Amino acid sequence: MRIDIISIFPGMFPAVLDESIIKRAQLKKKVRIFCHDLRDYTLDKHRKVDDRPFGGGSGMVLQVEPIFRAVQAIRKKTKSKPKVILLCPQGKKFDQSCARKLSACRNLVFICGHYEGIDERVREHLVDEEISIGDYVLTGGELAAMVVIDSLVRLIPGVLGDKNSLNFESFEGNLLEYPQYSRPAKFKNWPVPEVLLSGDHHKISVWRKAQSMQRTRMRRPDLLKK
Ligand SMILES: C[S@@+](CC[C@H](N)C(=O)[O-])C[C@H]1O[C@@H](n2cnc3c(N)ncnc32)[C@H](O)[C@@H]1O
Repeated sequence: MRIDIISIFPGMFPAVLDESIIKRAQLKKKVRIFCHDLRDYTLDKHRKVDDRPFGGGSGMVLQVEPIFRAVQAIRKKTKSKPKVILLCPQGKKFDQSCARKLSACRNLVFICGHYEGIDERVREHLVDEEISIGDYVLTGGELAAMVVIDSLVRLIPGVLGDKNSLNFESFEGNLLEYPQYSRPAKFKNWPVPEVLLSGDHHKISVWRKAQSMQRTRMRRPDLLKK
């Protein structure tokens, strides 16, 4: 997979993308990630990317021209037509099934808005999908892009070492994951459930399934309705 990110703050990305599992995914060549500075796609000497909104109002709007140029330049570099995604609080709410669908794409482009947002013509003519990471407003699309990229990259086959860790994860099968414990078995007076120390795999599996159902019923009954 190839991922391109268009942002006016590309320096925000390495802290997240060059660490941990995403870093390893890149080293294993499961994904290539390119961060583009939107200002590199301007033609004026001040590298201006924003302007005041037509009709008045507060704040600045990211202009259509540099974004158009950036998307065109990326399209020339990708083998198949990329899916262009705009991070946006008005978009479809992001979830695990969306992450799974995106993890199967070959080329993704993420456009990060800033200030008051972006010129509407970007949405109308360049974007295939708008994604929101929740009902709140961020300063820019960078953090949202990182959230989406983190969750989809770990779903690319071969990125996580143990395939089972995905099968039993929260939201797979619309259930939350069961509780996890590790060593030491004895700490203060806080016991680990006996069944997990029993070595009986069948019993452990039954217990985990029951815990998973109970947790989901208590915390996220909406998932069970799906
Ligand atoms: C300050 S916001 C603009 C909000 C816009 N004025 C509105 O009311 O819809 C600036 C940028 O942050 C990003 N952003 C903010 N909240 C987001 C969210 N919940 N999900 C995804 N992106 C978000 C978008 O890229 C947006 O263009």
